[in-house]
Amino acid sequence: MASQNLQSVPAELSPEEQEREAAGQAYFDRIISEDSRIEPRDWMPAAYRKTLLRQISQHAHSEIIGMQPEANWITRAPSLKRKSILMAKVQDEAGHGLYLYSAAETLGQSRDQMMEDLIAGKARYSSIFNYPTISWADMGAIGWLVDGAAICNQVPLCRASYGPYGRAMVRICKEESFHQRQGFEILLELSNGTAAQKQMAQDAVNRWYAPSLMMFGPPDDDSPNSKQSMAWNIKRFSNDELRSRFVGMMVEQVRVLGLTLPDKDIRFNEETKKWEHGPLDWNEFKEVLAGRGPCNSQRVERRREAHENGAWVREAAVAYARKQAQKENAA
Ligand SMILES: [Fe+2]
Ligand SMILES: [Fe+2]
Repeated sequence: MASQNLQSVPAELSPEEQEREAAGQAYFDRIISEDSRIEPRDWMPAAYRKTLLRQISQHAHSEIIGMQPEANWITRAPSLKRKSILMAKVQDEAGHGLYLYSAAETLGQSRDQMMEDLIAGKARYSSIFNYPTISWADMGAIGWLVDGAAICNQVPLCRASYGPYGRAMVRICKEESFHQRQGFEILLELSNGTAAQKQMAQDAVNRWYAPSLMMFGPPDDDSPNSKQSMAWNIKRFSNDELRSRFVGMMVEQVRVLGLTLPDKDIRFNEETKKWEHGPLDWNEFKEVLAGRGPCNSQRVERRREAHENGAWVREAAVAYARKQAQKENAA
């Protein structure tokens, strides 16, 4: 009994340790109040580390899983130009995943562990990538709407209080702008093409519109962690605020495309000065997030296959590094 009790009591901090913790907390609070940056070796509250790790790893997984719906169309792109643009975009997404895994590793989680969680189906990623891509126009709608929503979400993250995350986002956002333009251009070309092509573009916009709005996360009153993330200068604007801005951007751009957004309730509220949209199906969002979307199991299965097929590359890299280290030791 006595030993059981001892185990359940947290270890007491020594006076020196207590002092170190208090100094760490004071430093952290000052950095946050000055809107400056926390770096990997700085003291940080355990909950801050945990929140960032969850957010950055989920973001990394989204980039990596997000390669799949578009990679499906590389072999079917309608021209060599479109094929090379799409390949470059999918490769960019791989790069985004790698920067973000590296940023997450600075918080103490290994990339192997993150990958293991992903292929075991334990890790979350953006629900949008569990929808199928059924026509070429989906490449346009994804670039325009999905990368567009990513930009709205991620530009404020360039100022996130955690240094490695904010710095990774700067480069990622530049590439996301290119992604959005290429999507817009695909839709513009289809919209100005034959009636069937225009219809294909409109159909893709109709299917991707609502899921892209849901990328900003649940409504503010159903987003319990947002307040703390804003207090820590990780998040700068609420989910609903970002969603409203995005709708405002899309309303302008869809006119240039000669298409429409499938939402008759969009309006600019003169009182609040905010864009409003129609209701979204949050049950569907929760279902997809819980693993019951149209493509969840297929996406994770593909990732697992790719990971297994790449084992020889990882083994070769380790063997090479070992050889180099031996050579250096012998010299
Ligand atoms: Fe990306
Ligand atoms: Fe992208």
